[in-house]
Amino acid sequence: MEQTAVDWEVLARAAEAARAFAHAPYSGFRVGAAALFADGAVTSGANVENASFGLTVCAERHAVAAGVLGGHGRLRALLVLADAQPPASPCGACRQVLAEFADADLPIQTRSLRGEHAQYTLGALLPEPFGPGWLGRR
Ligand code: THU
Repeated sequence: MEQTAVDWEVLARAAEAARAFAHAPYSGFRVGAAALFADGAVTSGANVENASFGLTVCAERHAVAAGVLGGHGRLRALLVLADAQPPASPCGACRQVLAEFADADLPIQTRSLRGEHAQYTLGALLPEPFGPGWLGRR
């Protein structure tokens, strides 16, 4: 649920700043992400690759983990920034991680460096996510 209007420009600036620290020597594809949490905190992250490629962690998961570990509550909005036309949307693994900490109406904005953007909800990108209900939890 979006309680107050999301200031996407604040998130874009945070994602851009984080993207500068991306560690992407293998793909060359630098991604920045910024997340808005329930208490108003904005966290950010970038992709961090590894020579053992499968250990790479996406920008989105770093931004979300920073907010979770800061005790900022539920995720309210996410922005992803990359040098891609059309703007790159979150990978499947990240969508599942987002579903752990956000509701289906989570707004997700994707942006290119040129400012082109698209906007989705998490529910549109990941219908029927696996969730705690299957583990007997709410
Ligand atoms: N990447 C992200 O950081 N987020 C995404 O949603 C898609 C992919 C990163 C992972 C890897 O470092 C590079 O982009 C190319 O896949």
